[in-house]
Amino acid sequence: MLTDDFGREVTGVRISLTDRCNFDCVYCHNEGLGDTRGPMDPQENEMSADDVVRFLEVVEEFGVGKVKFTGGEPMLREDLEEIIRRTPDSMEVSLTTNGTFLPGRAEALKEAGLARVNVSQDALDPKEFAEITKSGAYDRVLEGVQAALDAGLDPVKLNMVVFKQTAGYVPEMVDHVAENEGLQLQLIEYMPELTGHDEWAIDIGRVHDWLADQADHIERRNMHGRKRYYIGKGMVEIVDPVGNKSFCANCHRVRVTHEGYLKGCLNRNDDLRPMGDMTKDEIRAAFREVVANRVPYYGEYLIEEDGEWVVNEKYLPEKTVGV
Ligand code: 5AD
Repeated sequence: MLTDDFGREVTGVRISLTDRCNFDCVYCHNEGLGDTRGPMDPQENEMSADDVVRFLEVVEEFGVGKVKFTGGEPMLREDLEEIIRRTPDSMEVSLTTNGTFLPGRAEALKEAGLARVNVSQDALDPKEFAEITKSGAYDRVLEGVQAALDAGLDPVKLNMVVFKQTAGYVPEMVDHVAENEGLQLQLIEYMPELTGHDEWAIDIGRVHDWLADQADHIERRNMHGRKRYYIGKGMVEIVDPVGNKSFCANCHRVRVTHEGYLKGCLNRNDDLRPMGDMTKDEIRAAFREVVANRVPYYGEYLIEEDGEWVVNEKYLPEKTVGV
C-alpha cells in the first residue's frame, strides 16, 4: 500500500473512460478538467481497454482494492463490459453514470463483474431535470435505475448535486429514497472551483441540520467521519468537500483522466502525468510520484492572491511538477 506524505493510504482509483457525454449538465466539473460544455464527438485520445487494464494491474500490486469508472458518460464506451471483465478480480468495481444506457445493459455489466452504480439524478420532475441536464431523457434515467436494481447492482446510489437550482427539491428526493428499497441518496455539495458560478453555492450546513431532524437514526462512519442519515427504507449521505480540510484528510483516491493522465486531486491540474505507452515499470514510477506529490488540502495548496489562484509558496519548489 502506498501512503502519501500526509498519512493517507491510496486505496482507490477513479478512472474517466471518456469525456464525451450525451448530457450537458450545467454544473459539470468534468472530473476536474473544468467546464467543457456540450456533448462531444468520439475522440481518438481515449485510453484503450489495454491501457486501462495495464494500469489496474499495476495499482493492484500496490494494494489498491477499489476502482470507480466515470466519464463524461462511461457507458458511451462500447468496451466497458470488456474493461470490467478484465479488471483484476481482487478489485471492487463501481460506475458513475447518467443512467440512460442502463436499460438493456445493466445485466451484462453485472455479469462482467460490476458491483454497484451511482446514477446522477438531480430532480424528480422531467422539466426541472431537462433544465439541469439539457436532456429530455428523464424517463429513461428512471428506467435505468430500475434496470440496475433488477440486475442486482446493490446499492444504487443516486447522486444529486445540491445548488441553488436543486436545493428546493431535496425533501422530495429524500422521500423518494425513503420509499424505495435499494436506493441510497448522495447529496453532493456544488463545487464551484472548476466551473465558476460561485453564486450557485448553498449553505450545506442547513442541509445537514434539516436531515438530522428528519432522520430515524444517524450513524457516523469512523473511516470517513461522514454521517449517514437513515430515513424510512433509504439512507442519505452528504458529500461536502468545499473548503473542507477533513474531507481532503479522508481522500484515499488517485484519479486518471480519459487521456490516461494520472491526477492526484480533483481540484488540481498541475500534477498531471501522462501514462501514454508507458511500460508497467514506468507506470509504477509515475504512480509513486503522483502519490508523493499529493497535497494535504487543495485550499491550502492553491491560495487566492489579488483575485488569482496561485500555488502556496510553502509547496514550492519541492512539490512542483517538473522542478
Ligand atoms: N459539483 C458537485 N458535484 C459535481 N458532479 C459533477 N460536477 C459537479 C460539481 N460542479 C458530480 C455529479 C456526477 C458526479 C460524477 O460528479 O453528481 O454524478
